[in-house]
Amino acid sequence: MSRQVPDDEINGRGGETVVNIDGVTKRYGSLTAVDDVTIPIRDGEFLTILGPSGAGKTTLLHMIAGFEQPTTGEIYINDQPVSNEPPNERDIGLVFQSLALFPHMTVKGNIAFPLKMRRDDPGDIEGQVEEVLELVRLPLEYKDKPVEDLSGGQQQRVAFARAIVYEPTLLLLDEPLSSLDKKLREEMRAELSRIHDETDLTIVHVTHNQTEALSMADRIAVINGGALEQLDPAKEVYANPGTPFVAEFIGNTTMLAGDVDRVSDGGAVATVGRGEIAFPRGDGLSSGRPVQLGLRAEKIRIDASDPGTENAFEGTVRQVAFEGDQTQYVVDVAALDARLEVTHQDPKPDTVFERGDSVTVGWAAEDVFAYPE
Ligand SMILES: Nc1ncnc2c1ncn2[C@@H]1O[C@H](COP(=O)(O)OP(=O)(O)O)[C@@H](O)[C@H]1O
Ligand SMILES: [Mg+2]
Repeated sequence: MSRQVPDDEINGRGGETVVNIDGVTKRYGSLTAVDDVTIPIRDGEFLTILGPSGAGKTTLLHMIAGFEQPTTGEIYINDQPVSNEPPNERDIGLVFQSLALFPHMTVKGNIAFPLKMRRDDPGDIEGQVEEVLELVRLPLEYKDKPVEDLSGGQQQRVAFARAIVYEPTLLLLDEPLSSLDKKLREEMRAELSRIHDETDLTIVHVTHNQTEALSMADRIAVINGGALEQLDPAKEVYANPGTPFVAEFIGNTTMLAGDVDRVSDGGAVATVGRGEIAFPRGDGLSSGRPVQLGLRAEKIRIDASDPGTENAFEGTVRQVAFEGDQTQYVVDVAALDARLEVTHQDPKPDTVFERGDSVTVGWAAEDVFAYPE
């Protein structure tokens, strides 16, 4: 369990495909919960499936686990189609939001449960339980405590321990941290990353929380309305969102609708309202065609004196939220007929604007995401 995984096998870089979700669709009557999704999951990676509530995340996970069957398409584990394999033969560990622990049973009883179900040699069970307690950093003396005497964070650790004690090929996590408070959630995020680093587990994790996805995942699969929007390394998904949905869903992004005015070697320009916005030249752009532009709040400078950027507009502060390390603004920009969300990081106390202040907002052309329609 504690084999060190070479660097090229993790981070979604070199691993073989261990699970292949291949053209999978799931219909419930007339509702398409999962719509022709293909995701090859690599050995040893931490893959996060990210999407809003109702996007089809749990349905996808349930099909990998074997609780649901695809309507069309197939799921392969180690190159074998598994549609006819019941859940208990799929070698998969599971942690759901409701931890589904047995509250009156001891920690050991809970963790040993899957080993007993698998009829492992009883002589080995004690050792396996101790090894996994160490991995999830629960004190060995907790073994004989009833689970209900443990704190929320400790119960979370027991749930992880139970899911990985028999060293499954794959660990599936469905919003496992969503019932924890903020501080504990951050702690368990770090713990999950550490457990992933210290084992050769392949993890498929489902969440609607972008911060959770960005902080833990090697790769993120963004799904919306059952369909795959983007599958890329986490940093790439953030830096280069592939669709307007991804741009809007991840990060704090204002979307503006415009029309392409001109495209040259140096870049492109769109008209938005009565203004013009410069953005990078990209594929599929032609004059006169509609385009959606995405602006990240932290890329917009709010600075009355010198925005120093290609796109600069007069605006009026509509909302201010001073958060200490940053200030969040909503700025009305009349020329664009738009309301922009702006994050000013590390503000000096005397540079915090007030509601009603006139400001200049500006951003670099290269920081604009553009999606031709
Ligand atoms: N057993 C079911 N029967 C009918 N509809 C379902 C069933 N399970 C899920 N759905 C529907 O499928 C869609 C996707 O659900 P789900 O996979 O739970 O989304 P998520 O986990 O992303 O919130 C939703 O519209 C949900 O209502
Ligand atoms: Mg769900």
